[in-house]
Amino acid sequence: MNNLSEPQWHSELGALNSVGDALHWGEQKLAEAEVFLGHGTDSYHDEAVALLLYALEQPWDVDPSIVEAALTDVQRERFGGVLLRRINERVPVPYLTGKAWFCGLEFSVDERVLIPRSPIAELIEYRFYPWVEADNVSRVLDLCTGGGCIAIACAHAFPDAQIDATDIDEGALDVCRQNIAQYDLQDRVRALLGDGLAAAQGQYDLIVSNPPYVDAQDMASLPDEFRHEPELALASGLDGLDFTRKVLAQAADYLSEQGVLVLEVGNSMEAVEQVWPAVPFMWLEFEHGGHGVFVITREQLMEYREIFQQTL
Ligand SMILES: C[S@@+](CC[C@H](N)C(=O)[O-])C[C@H]1O[C@@H](n2cnc3c(N)ncnc32)[C@H](O)[C@@H]1O
Repeated sequence: MNNLSEPQWHSELGALNSVGDALHWGEQKLAEAEVFLGHGTDSYHDEAVALLLYALEQPWDVDPSIVEAALTDVQRERFGGVLLRRINERVPVPYLTGKAWFCGLEFSVDERVLIPRSPIAELIEYRFYPWVEADNVSRVLDLCTGGGCIAIACAHAFPDAQIDATDIDEGALDVCRQNIAQYDLQDRVRALLGDGLAAAQGQYDLIVSNPPYVDAQDMASLPDEFRHEPELALASGLDGLDFTRKVLAQAADYLSEQGVLVLEVGNSMEAVEQVWPAVPFMWLEFEHGGHGVFVITREQLMEYREIFQQTL
């Protein structure tokens, strides 16, 4: 407990009468503790709201007049419990509530999957315009799917397409299958186990991937919140490109003639430019923040195949 003794914490918690009191107090405690923001919320206020709604068992669109309601003992204890874990153990909010949002859709999450936050959401909302002809997209591969957020959002964006969602981790795929079932998409979205492209079957019009890409230096300095996420979902060797190298060398074989690969590499974009200076990666810009996502066509992957194979 940050600079606060246990009796003092319980006495302050016990003095909270209304939902509004709890919100104000929670926000203040999160700010004092300087918890790291970046797992779906960008203010202490939003973090306190999410934890409080979880404690109250209320949806995000609850009537705002709820702030005037009296807190029950059970709600107070539940709120105090999750707030304490957020502060002392630095557990990100979505792992405490079991819920995260991506492309306006709610997903179940737990510590077996990365918390959804990829800027690729914005591309999905625009149906990857102008990189693909949306009406011609019949097969999509979400490589490194985690809890399935990209695959499921793509299934909504391309209602006639079949989607394969692949991952190397069976635990992540368990969560992915839960989410597929939650959206009743079992007939269009398949969760497949495999290392890299080994689980891919046939050719796709679009391969989209938010793979592990954090380099060793960034891994060593991540805020504690990230230590709750699977290391397998983040780390990818010294320069962050272990996974990317393999995909670039192989992806052409899994793309249809007009197919494209959309790959996120985050901060490792500089390393990409250093390793393959001759390749004209198309780096995308985002209205709502984020960077390090490129598009490359099957044609380009074929053209530079030898270069990609040399750097394996
Ligand atoms: C950064 S997370 C992305 C999760 C999800 N797509 C998202 O955007 O929130 C990367 C995922 O890649 C998986 N992964 C790591 N190495 C892999 C490999 N060699 N082959 C397939 N999946 C892998 C991890 O298990 C993890 O679920």
